Amino acid sequence: MAGGGIASGSHRWAEVDLGALKANVALLRGLLPAATRFIAVVKANGYGHGAREVARAALEAGAWGLAVVTLAEAAEVRDLLPPERVLVLGPLLPEDAPEAVAGRHLLGCSSVVVARALEAAAGERRVPIHAKLDTGMGRYGADPEEFAALLSLIRASNRLELAGTWTHLASSDSDPSYTAEQLERFLAATEGLPGLRHVANSGAVLRHPEAALDAVRVGIALYGCGDPRLEPVLRLRARVAHLKTAPAGSSIGYGRTWTAGRRTRVATVTIGYADGVQRGRANRGVVLVRGRRAPLVGAVSMDSITLDVTEVPGVELGDAATLLGQDGEERILAEEAAEWSGTISYEVLTSIGTRVERHYSRR
Ligand SMILES: Cc1ncc(COP(=O)(O)O)c(C=O)c1O
Repeated sequence: MAGGGIASGSHRWAEVDLGALKANVALLRGLLPAATRFIAVVKANGYGHGAREVARAALEAGAWGLAVVTLAEAAEVRDLLPPERVLVLGPLLPEDAPEAVAGRHLLGCSSVVVARALEAAAGERRVPIHAKLDTGMGRYGADPEEFAALLSLIRASNRLELAGTWTHLASSDSDPSYTAEQLERFLAATEGLPGLRHVANSGAVLRHPEAALDAVRVGIALYGCGDPRLEPVLRLRARVAHLKTAPAGSSIGYGRTWTAGRRTRVATVTIGYADGVQRGRANRGVVLVRGRRAPLVGAVSMDSITLDVTEVPGVELGDAATLLGQDGEERILAEEAAEWSGTISYEVLTSIGTRVERHYSRR
């Protein structure tokens, strides 16, 4: 059995290399001016890797702060750093205000109505707001008129404090001229304002050094995606749990989407769409078994996939199959798996399900 050191009871697991994550933080920080604060984005359970472990490693590697989306995510990392170094990107709803204020975190805010709710919930507290401008993402973020109103409200309030201003880029990894337009709009609207100004996500850190400003919010690059200099952090594995020889002409799986063109050795592996293998992977791409690339054949089931291992010598029950990461000389990147699924690396990583055990290593 080729199991890779994980207890034999494990059926599906992710090996998270925190040393690789720290190396990624170091590399990315090296691309930035020394004064730029590095905010590690650990929302969505640290992009599927485990928020607390990733957060701790990123902080050890020199991250200044963390960014999350929800108040529950902020609570999960609360004891790792001072509250004023955790940015809750939000969105917050007015009803979230009491809990948001009590957390003492930096609060992303895109609207006057939410700012008023925060002010009303403030009591004797000063509430640090990061006011968000929409410069062309078209999603959250205040439009220029609302942004001006939001700033006026904060200025006039003795409870709210403008601790930062920010915007989010729509296509930092693919459209330099649109990114430049967004940056220009942001700089014009925030010139001279107090607090941290931040714009850059991973794509901008890697491609637009001029967007670094006072802080950067880095997600996907931490986890090793988006540049060949970065190290993939997560290896996703499951077990060969059944082997059979399918005669030529027999079909495999739901919907009978694959038919054996020859006598085929088929391995059934203990991971499915409930664990994050997208159904779009049906009959697409490969999984590594014994260091060889074995095509995925048939549909993806909730709990299993099937592989053609005819060309892989010596496959045994219990062998580890690698869906992401290295096995021997072969490697599957999240970007590659994403292409097979018709999605992006972000979705591949954040879809990894809760029953996939996370195992951590440090170097
Ligand atoms: C507001 C905001 N900032 C930063 C990030 C990090 O982006 P990336 O993972 O591309 O670095 C995200 C992620 O989607 C985001 O929503």
